[in-house]
Amino acid sequence: MLLTIPDVLTPEQVQIIRSRLDAAEWVDGRVTAGHQSAMAKDNVQLPEDSRVAREVGEVILNELGKNSLFVSAALPLRVFPPLFNRYSGGQSFGTHVDNAIRQITGTGHRIRTDLSATLFFSSPDEYDGGELVVEDTYGIHTVKLPAGHMILYPSTSLHHVLPVTRGARVSSFFWIQSMIRDDAQRTLLFDLDVATQRIAADVPTHPSAVQLTGIYHNLLRRWAEM
Ligand code: NI
Repeated sequence: MLLTIPDVLTPEQVQIIRSRLDAAEWVDGRVTAGHQSAMAKDNVQLPEDSRVAREVGEVILNELGKNSLFVSAALPLRVFPPLFNRYSGGQSFGTHVDNAIRQITGTGHRIRTDLSATLFFSSPDEYDGGELVVEDTYGIHTVKLPAGHMILYPSTSLHHVLPVTRGARVSSFFWIQSMIRDDAQRTLLFDLDVATQRIAADVPTHPSAVQLTGIYHNLLRRWAEM
């Protein structure tokens, strides 16, 4: 499932973060790429241990923890500390698949990448190109979102970023290990959650609302890995 999470950050938060990112020191993006993707990757990144990356990353994770759409869709177990990249002057990232397992730098922890996320910090009118293109079983999806919005997509998908031919595309990217490894099962749970909440909101006393909530939790109990 490919899902937009709108307004992860407010315009005020985006503005403050953007001025911090614009003033930061950026390095060659190949530092976090695997062997295959290093050949395809051309951008700059904030060093993982940079203070700006850590502090802004904490703001993002804090907001996501309160975002019910994100929690319902991702059912997160662990979230990789957000990384930051910037494309300009024709830079791009060719077709690749994200590494399945990632070590969290400076810790002994590893996460399995079930979901990939990109949170946009540039508004679409600031740059040309730079679309994230995701290929899944339903076809090819082109993504370019307003600043503060985030796209969530299965890490199993092939994807690339088109060359940025004007301006700069600044974003945060990271991965989520979900309690539900399988994308199809996770999508079913999300659809069931959305439908159940709609019934509960429209007809609060409807007995099926309780029954559907029970089914949701019993499926989650059956499938969740912790
Ligand atoms: Ni990628």
